[in-house]
Order: sequence, then structure tokens, then C-alpha cells
Amino acid sequence: MFASLIKVAAAAGLVQTSLALVVRDALGSTASTTKCNLDWTDAAPLKTTYVDGVKYGCKCYFGDDCWPAASAWQRLNQTVDGSLSVNMPPGAACHNTFAGPFGTVNTYNAAACADITANFADESWTVSQPAAALWTYWTGDTCRPSEDPTASCTLGNYGVYVIKATKHAHIKAGVDFARKNNIRLVLRNTGHDFIGRSVGYGSLVINTHSFKDVQWINKYAGAGSYHGSAVKVSAGIQGREILAMGHARSPPLVVVTGECPTVGIAGGFIQGGGHGPWTTLKGFSADNVLAFEVITASGLYAVANEVENADLFYALKGGGPASYAVILTVTMKTFPDQRASGATLYINSTHTTDADVWWNGTAAFHKYANHFVDNGLYVYYEMFPQSLRVRPFVAIEKTAAQLQALVQPMLNELDAQHIPYEFAVKEFPTFFDLYNDLFEGENAGDSAISGGWMLNHADMDPARTPLVMDAMKKVFTPARPSTFSFMIGHLFNPGYNVPVSNSATNPAWRNATDFIITNIIVPVGVDAGFKAYLQDVLTNDIDEALRSVSSSDCTYVNEADPYQTNWQGRFWGSVYPTLRRTRNKWDPLGVFYAISTPGTEGWALMNDTKLCKKLD
Ligand SMILES: Cc1cc2nc3c(=O)[nH]c(=O)nc-3n(C[C@H](O)[C@H](O)[C@H](O)COP(=O)(O)OP(=O)(O)OC[C@H]3O[C@@H](n4cnc5c(N)ncnc54)[C@H](O)[C@@H]3O)c2cc1C
Ligand SMILES: *[C@@H]1O[C@H](CO)[C@@H](O)[C@H](O)[C@H]1NC(C)=O
Ligand SMILES: *[C@@H]1O[C@H](CO)[C@@H](O)[C@H](O)[C@H]1NC(C)=O
Ligand SMILES: *[C@@H]1O[C@H](CO)[C@@H](O)[C@H](O)[C@H]1NC(C)=O
Ligand SMILES: *[C@@H]1O[C@H](CO)[C@@H](O)[C@H](O)[C@H]1NC(C)=O
Ligand SMILES: *[C@@H]1O[C@H](CO)[C@@H](O)[C@H](O)[C@H]1NC(C)=O
Repeated sequence: MFASLIKVAAAAGLVQTSLALVVRDALGSTASTTKCNLDWTDAAPLKTTYVDGVKYGCKCYFGDDCWPAASAWQRLNQTVDGSLSVNMPPGAACHNTFAGPFGTVNTYNAAACADITANFADESWTVSQPAAALWTYWTGDTCRPSEDPTASCTLGNYGVYVIKATKHAHIKAGVDFARKNNIRLVLRNTGHDFIGRSVGYGSLVINTHSFKDVQWINKYAGAGSYHGSAVKVSAGIQGREILAMGHARSPPLVVVTGECPTVGIAGGFIQGGGHGPWTTLKGFSADNVLAFEVITASGLYAVANEVENADLFYALKGGGPASYAVILTVTMKTFPDQRASGATLYINSTHTTDADVWWNGTAAFHKYANHFVDNGLYVYYEMFPQSLRVRPFVAIEKTAAQLQALVQPMLNELDAQHIPYEFAVKEFPTFFDLYNDLFEGENAGDSAISGGWMLNHADMDPARTPLVMDAMKKVFTPARPSTFSFMIGHLFNPGYNVPVSNSATNPAWRNATDFIITNIIVPVGVDAGFKAYLQDVLTNDIDEALRSVSSSDCTYVNEADPYQTNWQGRFWGSVYPTLRRTRNKWDPLGVFYAISTPGTEGWALMNDTKLCKKLD
């Protein structure tokens, strides 16, 4: 069956048989460069399964004959220096027993349970767990911390085994094992993923979080025309971590990170594109990448830059997480840090309980969205019913007086309409000082589904503000009843200084103004039917409301609804066909998988659990 799959793929031109590929040794040393071919002959076949008479090839799951014997897992454990463990949901210690794939074990531990309960909403604690997800919805929420030790605890969609990799060779061993045994593979860095792409039912998880090496480069001498300063960042490094290290340099340096302190750099973030406070000035994080070191689906160490494996280089820059290779390091441009000014604006129930007054205030803010980004600003804001929280406006290379002048027309409008608000502006010696002062940590442990949409300059034309406000009202109060919903907005334009994309991100981004994440809180324990209903509300009422006032046809693969139609075009636009070809070359068999990423069209989760590919 495997042979026939390969033949079908080859006939479709999907499998390259003689790929010249520059491969490096296990330490990523540049000294021993050899040529090799991508080779799939050692891969195990998919498991044939018929569902309603339709033929599928599935990954191999616990209980299947093809699941590796205990001795094979032990050998894997030896190869990874004992870093393989049987995975348990983080809440297990609060339950008398954990009923997992290997039987039922006693797990209750009062002290551990108290610790877990105290930390479950702490994002740094959650990041430090071997396989935990910050957004628990996608795990199935089958074992939360509980005050009732008799409550059931099962694995849900969490992986069966985890490799806590501390050497690149451990990652390679995990990729090889998954490929050779047809096991679902999950890469897990920080667990921030909004749409469950770092958890997977029945999977082997490779945790990449321990890789923290950072190398600062004064004059980049690698491929390409750029010879300025750069930094090589390992897979496990997070946003504030690299900004703090950069701040300690002389002179202080920055890279384009996300707004969130704990999101990784070299994992899902950069493969989705990566936007943050510097994006209006410097483009997406992915626009600033100079090189990657990776392990391919076929188990090879490779370098990807403008010259070597240029197609892979391009695709890894925003072409979708967990799709082409495991990233070991990313080398990015650095920039001198600058003076920066920040501001905050609040309009909430402290100021007014009149919904119309509040909406009018919110409208005054949005009316100036194009004005803000056209003056180089980045703005992060949160909108809950009766609460607008703009924290912060970021004006890099600008004084407080300059920022004040830029927001003054909006403040005048608020004043003219007698809308109460609180506004403050402050100047900082560096962006990093602003970042520490004005950006806030975020929570973990919430059960939510999220979507999102981008509104471009035409959409945010001030004359259209009433239309945009009507759409936002529908987010809070969708056509069909929903549980609590809210928005996280980002005003930025990656095209402000980088008008032509330098990455695989959707070209439509280059005229962005407002990228909005939509969220619905999903109460823990609701049945599958209600979950499906809420998902339908998110896709067809909430996000549709934003789409209906937008011409962008663009949203962000990392912060959007994976179930919307035409995700290919909306995430990548005209870039998509190239990405699909690149996926089919570097991972034709689907060793990697993340929902709604290039080349996954044939794949589906059967019964919301087993990953299978439709074969005919
Ligand atoms: C609170 C919060 C704030 C956020 N803020 C921002 C923001 O400001 N800007 C922004 O652009 N995004 C932001 N995001 C979204 C973020 O980009 C995604 O959640 C992203 O997937 C996180 O990547 P990660 O590697 O840290 O997380 P993970 O959940 O560990 O991984 C995410 C995906 O990347 C894959 N992956 C991880 N490591 C690797 C690797 N080494 N090689 C290949 N694939 C890998 C995983 O398999 C998974 O598919 C935010 C998310 C949250 C929860
Ligand atoms: C892997 O080996 C380590 C060290 O010997 C051991 O502690 C661990 O339990 C093993 N993992 C599995 C899954 O057997
Ligand atoms: C809100 O703005 C609209 C349009 O400008 C105006 O007609 C209305 O009176 C305002 N509402 C309040 C409560 O100020
Ligand atoms: C409302 O605004 C005030 C500032 O005026 C702020 O201190 C408070 O945290 C805000 N409330 C919410 C819920 O954001
Ligand atoms: C961005 O949108 C504005 C408003 O629609 C338009 O005038 C401008 O030409 C667009 N710019 C680009 C680069 O597409
Ligand atoms: C899905 O679940 C049904 C009912 O439990 C079962 O009969 C079927 O085999 C499952 N399908 C797969 C692909 O596991």
C-alpha cells in the first residue's frame, strides 16, 4: 500500500527522487558538509481503514497491531539518553487515578495538586510542563485540576509519550521513530498554540523547549546580501528572553518578536509569520530571517537560506507551522534599540455604563486606526463588552510629545462627544523599557476557541467606521446565542516599511491596518454537540461578521479559525501553490501535521481523534 501511495505521489510530481541537499553533522557544525538525498524508503505505511466504505490511511495508534512493542520504545529511550517519558495530563496529581493507555495508575498527591492548582493559570508554569497546552480546549479537557479526587482523569488529546529533547540528536531520533513506525508526531515548544497544533491524540511529542543557545553576530557573513548584525536563536528561546538578552548588549539590540513575553521565536511563531510591536517598522519576524538549521522529515540535518535549500527557506518563513522541517535554530537580523513612547487608553465601566456612549468611544478609537499605522505605530488592544483597553500604543523612535500629537485628534473627538476615558502617555529610553512596563503577561488554562480576521486600509477608512462597529457588535452578540466572546486587536502594517514581502506570508498583509482575534470561551464539560455549535457560531456568525465588512480576504494562520473555507487562500493568498509544492517535496508522507497547513487537504481527524488521509 505504501508503494502505491508513493507511486500516486510520484505520478503527481510530488516526490523528488534526486534532491541535492546540503546536510550537516549532528551538532550543526558547518565544517562537515555532505550531499544527500531525501529518502522515504524506511517509512512505515499508513494503516488502511475503511470508514463508510471510503478508504483511509491512518497513523498507527495504541492498540493497533502496528503500534511499536514496548521494547522498541525502550530502544528509542536509550537513543534519546533516557529523555522519553510516558505522558500524563498536568492535572493528574489532583485525581485518585489516571486511566491512560497503559492502564490505570494511582496519581493523587495533595502537595503536587496544590502546586498545579495554584499554577494552572500561569503561562510560564504551563510552558515549563513537558506537553501542556495553554489553551486547554484542544486537549479535550479530560483531566483538569479538581477539588474532587474521584473525578475522572484520562489522556484526551494529549500525546502518549514525550521526548524532552536536550540534544539535536534526540529530535532526530524522534522524527525517525515516528516516520519508521507511522506514529503521529507532535512538536511542542511553548504550547501557546491557539488551535491545538502542539497537542495530538495518540502522538509522540518532541519537546524543543530546552534549546536556549543564543549567538550574537556583529556582521552576518552568510548567504544573501545582508551583512549587518544578526542573532542565531535556538528552538526554545522565547520573546522576552531574547529581548532581555539583546537589551544587555552594548549597544542594546532588538529583534522582531511577538507582543507576548512567553511565545517562542523559532517554532510556530516564525512559521506563521510572527507579528509584534516592531512589525509596522520592520515587517513580520519572518521577513527578518537570514537562515534556519533544521531536521527534515526524512531525518537529515540541513541548512536553509537564500542559497541552500532556498525553497525550504522561503516556506519556513511564514508558510505554516509543523509543515516542512523541525527548526533547530533561526538566524535573524537585529536592530539597535531606540527611544520609544507608549500610551494607554481605557474606556470601561469605570467611565461609563451607557453602552451607546461606550460604542461611540470605541468608534472614535477605530476611526483613527489608519492614521496610527500610517504614522508608524503599533497598537495592541482588547475589547470586551463595555471595556476597551488599549495597552499600549507603541511609537518607536518617537518622543512622548510626538505620540501625544498623533493621538490628539482622537482625544479631541472623545472630548467633543463628552465620552469619558483615561489616557496616559510616557516616554522610555528604549523600546525594551516600554515593553516591560506596558505589555502584560497572559493567562493559561482557559478553554476557548478562536478565530480572527484582518481589516485593511480600505476596510478601515474612517467613513466606514459605523460599518466596522456594527460588525464588532455582532462579535459580542452574534446572530445565534453564544457563550462569552471578546476580541484582541492589533493595529500594524507590515507593508509600511517592507512593502514587498520578504517571506511566505500572504501578500495582502502589506496593506493591513487591524488584525483582530476573536474568541469564544467554551465552558469545560459541554458536550460535543454544543462544541460543534459554538464552532459554527465562530465560523459563520462571528468571523463572518468581520469578513462581511472587509475586502482583505486575509487572516493569520496562527490566530484564526482553522475550519473556515478557503483557508489556503486566506492564510497565504497567491503564495499557496508554491507552499503546497514545497510541502510535497520536503514532507510528502505527512510525517508532520498541523491542521489547515499546506498539503494537508487529504487529512482529517476521524472521530476527532485519529489522523487519517483519504486514499480514494
Ligand atoms: C498569549 C498569546 C499571545 C500571542 N501573541 C502573539 C503575537 O504577538 N504575535 C504573533 O505572531 N503570534 C502571537 N501568538 C500566537 C503564536 O504565534 C502561536 O501561538 C504560535 O503557534 C506559538 O508558537 P510556539 O512555538 O511558541 O508554540 P507551540 O504551541 O509549542 O507550537 C506551535 C506550532 O509550532 C510547531 N512547532 C513548535 N516548535 C517547532 C519547531 N522547532 N520546528 C517546527 N515546528 C515547531 C508546533 O508543532 C505547533 O504546530 C500568541 C499566542 C498566545 C497564546
Ligand atoms: C526512559 O529512561 C529513563 C532513564 O532510565 C527512565 O527514567 C524512564 O522511565 C524511561 N522512559 C520510559 C518511557 O520507559
Ligand atoms: C453616539 O453617536 C451617534 C452618532 O454620532 C449619535 O447619534 C448618538 O447620539 C451618540 N450616542 C450617545 C449616547 O452619545
Ligand atoms: C478601567 O479603566 C481603569 C482606568 O481608568 C483601569 O484602571 C481599569 O483596570 C479598567 N478596567 C478594566 C476591566 O479594564
Ligand atoms: C492601501 O489601501 C489604500 C486605501 O484603500 C490605497 O489607497 C493604497 O493604494 C493601498 N496601498 C497598497 C500598497 O496597496
Ligand atoms: C469512530 O467511532 C466509531 C464509534 O465508536 C467506531 O465504530 C469507528 O471505528 C471509529 N472510527 C475510527 C476511524 O476509528
